[in-house]
Amino acid sequence: MQANLNQTNLNSVWQFASAANIKFGRGSSALTPSELSRFNVHRPLIVSDSTVIALPQVMKLLAALRDANFSPQIFDTCVPEPAIDTAKKAIEAGRAGKVDCVVGIGGGSNLDVAKMAAAVLKHSGEPANYFGFDAIPGPILPLIAIPTTAGTGSEVSHSAVLTDSDAGVKVSTLSRWLRPAVAIVDPSLTDSCPPHVTAHSGIDALVHAIEAYTNRDFQQMVGVDPQARAYEGSYPLTRLLAAEAIRLVGRSLVRAYQHPTDQTARDDMALAAMLAGMAFSNSGVALVHALEYPVGALTHCSHGEGNGLLLPHVMRFNLPECQRQFAEIAQLLTTASTELATNKARTRVTTNCTEAAAQLAIDAVVSLQQALNIRPRLRDLGLHAHQIPLVAQKAFQIKRLIDVNPRRASEQDLTTILESAY
Ligand SMILES: NC(=O)c1ccc[n+]([C@@H]2O[C@H](COP(=O)([O-])OP(=O)(O)OC[C@H]3O[C@@H](n4cnc5c(N)ncnc54)[C@H](O)[C@@H]3O)[C@@H](O)[C@H]2O)c1
Ligand SMILES: [Zn+2]
Repeated sequence: MQANLNQTNLNSVWQFASAANIKFGRGSSALTPSELSRFNVHRPLIVSDSTVIALPQVMKLLAALRDANFSPQIFDTCVPEPAIDTAKKAIEAGRAGKVDCVVGIGGGSNLDVAKMAAAVLKHSGEPANYFGFDAIPGPILPLIAIPTTAGTGSEVSHSAVLTDSDAGVKVSTLSRWLRPAVAIVDPSLTDSCPPHVTAHSGIDALVHAIEAYTNRDFQQMVGVDPQARAYEGSYPLTRLLAAEAIRLVGRSLVRAYQHPTDQTARDDMALAAMLAGMAFSNSGVALVHALEYPVGALTHCSHGEGNGLLLPHVMRFNLPECQRQFAEIAQLLTTASTELATNKARTRVTTNCTEAAAQLAIDAVVSLQQALNIRPRLRDLGLHAHQIPLVAQKAFQIKRLIDVNPRRASEQDLTTILESAY
């Protein structure tokens, strides 16, 4: 009786987590010194890259930190899709500089290195000690995450992704302790993103939102101890956050890509990326990400482009399980969009057939892909046809992503999806 009661209770419980504190808005990065001073720290490790560190707002921010009597130790040699070695170098810089906190400034690549550095500098050892889910034993160094792209949501998420170049795979570290103490989302920092970075990171945010929205319902995630799973499955709050992220991406991603100085579009995308991060880091990401990790490791494409390429193919596979959700996504994506006007007109008239309405979501995603000049085929990224079974095999091993996908997928299904995208 007691056991049944517990089981029932657990199946209807969801939990939500995010960065402990969020500051959002143009100019909010100026709050960094005062936020840092709350932690009684003095020597922040600044984790960034050579492009971002030279942005005028970032130089101003570093000057403000020095004026406030902090001694920033600068590590500015992060690279996109960072290897484990990059994280090790950041950690060495932190140890040499005797730092007591970490500030990550940049795209997801820099933020993930910052997260890993804050964990290892606190708990010793090296990154590999903490790979997988829940291997970080407790709180990490105080960490402020300041995104300069609108895409990954890493500023609020519980993961850090590195590339194991020797094994040709991406390795994720997931832990409740990886969520930054403070996320400072200042959309003005994204104004300088070049169009391809805007496109790739922006479509990554859409993939996060669509996967979070359509994942298996949390009540179907039975058989996995809620304490032992990295993702909850979708539930009311994640669906709410993801839906708004999808609407904002539909309204503003193409605009931000075509008109980089459009501040409203930039603001929308910064919010969309953060909301999608809040959604996926609780609900989960699924099959698109499972396939992208090996594709990205083998081809060195950007995470966003790989995801953007794969999204419609995975949606076609998931369609039988997601008709209602896809019909909703079609509405969300097109309602506020001028660029997806054709899709909007078709969405309006297709109300009587759920499958046709659901198909419109896939059509809208393909239109978006084309408008953003995302390369359409895996062969365009440099993947070889003979690598498809290897990609399917590696993707199938990432259980947390396969488990939460709305439609059960076999390794053969993954091969078929990859062939359709090749
Ligand atoms: N931890 C998570 O939750 C999470 C989620 C999704 C993706 N990721 C990871 O994030 C990485 C991708 O991050 P990303 O898409 O943000 O790109 P990125 O961090 O790799 O940056 C791409 C390029 O854009 C440049 N750039 C960044 N901001 C700029 C700006 N404001 N002006 C000019 N140039 C700028 C960078 O210098 C870099 O050359 C991947 O490694 C991916 O695996 C992590
Ligand atoms: Zn992603």
